[in-house]
Amino acid sequence: KKVVLAYSGGLDTSAIVPWLKENYDNCEVICFVADVGQGADDLEGVEDKAKASGASKCIVKDLKEEFVKDYVYPTLKTGAVYEGTYLLGTSMARPVIAKALVEVAIAEGADAIAHGCTGKGNDQVRFESAVAALAPQLKVIAPWRIWKMRSREELLNYLSERNIPCKATLKKIYSRDANAWHISTEGGELEDTWNKATDAVWTWTTKPEDAPNTPEEVSVKIEKGEIVAVNGKEMSAYNCLATLNDIAARHGVGRVDITENRLVGMKSRGCYETPGGTVMLAALRAIDELVLDKTLRSFKAKISEDFAQLVYDGRWFTPLCDAILASANNIAEVCSGEVVLKLYKGSVTAIQKKSDHSLFNVDFCTFGEDEVYNQADAEGFIKLYSLPARIRAINASNKK
Ligand code: ARG
Ligand code: SIN
Repeated sequence: KKVVLAYSGGLDTSAIVPWLKENYDNCEVICFVADVGQGADDLEGVEDKAKASGASKCIVKDLKEEFVKDYVYPTLKTGAVYEGTYLLGTSMARPVIAKALVEVAIAEGADAIAHGCTGKGNDQVRFESAVAALAPQLKVIAPWRIWKMRSREELLNYLSERNIPCKATLKKIYSRDANAWHISTEGGELEDTWNKATDAVWTWTTKPEDAPNTPEEVSVKIEKGEIVAVNGKEMSAYNCLATLNDIAARHGVGRVDITENRLVGMKSRGCYETPGGTVMLAALRAIDELVLDKTLRSFKAKISEDFAQLVYDGRWFTPLCDAILASANNIAEVCSGEVVLKLYKGSVTAIQKKSDHSLFNVDFCTFGEDEVYNQADAEGFIKLYSLPARIRAINASNKK
């Protein structure tokens, strides 16, 4: 009788409002809009749009700080990057949106939630897995898996037949998802992996070859694996990200173009822009270089991989998530310090790094004279270290 819809103001969710009312007994539809930093363009007039579609009310919630502090930063601490390249911008946003959606549904006494994800993608799995974990009593309605409409034209006709105004146009080339961390672009010419991404794909970052000819240095302060200040100014997590986004986007930093494995089994191509995030990841890696020994670095690489799969696959609200984050937090106890990064025409390089927990000790590694290391010790070490190789070779030559 009452449904809360994850609403964006776009064509799909605008059509879902009347469709729900017509197909579920004239139910009440409440639109929920999560502000995860997608930008003012998407949020402007969204309440009026929702009401014009027939929603009884529209609730907008600012989740920007929560998104960055409780989802992005923990993920960064694990070092997760999906299939080596994707910084998980859409994947990380789904659990924070789903959690808020569930809270609204419960507060409003709704029986169901609805979303506009297609039946082909990852997002449906992420939303519904979150709802299952947080409020299993709620029914989920996914119109794209039910209705027969397939094209924008049909959706536009559906709305105009009902006299519902909609500014959406017939021609929309790409499927995009934006938040404070990233913007993703899929579809259009990207559907052929041999097509180059055209300039129209990129909406946020400067084309690297058009970026300033002078490099820019930015300094980042890190406390226990979290970025707490940019260029000497302490700021909230969201503001650190927003500041780095502005600087890095200007220099064309953070573009990737990948073909990835979706959870539902098919491959898809996406172009992602993650300017500030790319700088953050580079800064955190620079601190790891100083403070983590060889065994911890290799252990962290394993949890990075596991956590990337977990976030991508929509398993945020699981005991495994808690277990990996506990481990990442433990490792991050020593991940504090300062890093200076150089941004130049699409690249970001850590050029200065320091930490009170640094394991770097020039007394040992100097190419000059030292008083702490006896080079003769290495001989015995290498003898035992290479013993298996020696024995194998000796035995092989004895057999001849
Ligand atoms: N392929 C990326 C992911 O699965 C981006 C998905 C974009 N989602 C969207 N609704 N446009 O995380
Ligand atoms: C969708 O299918 O709704 C977007 C793409 C995805 O979820 O992977």
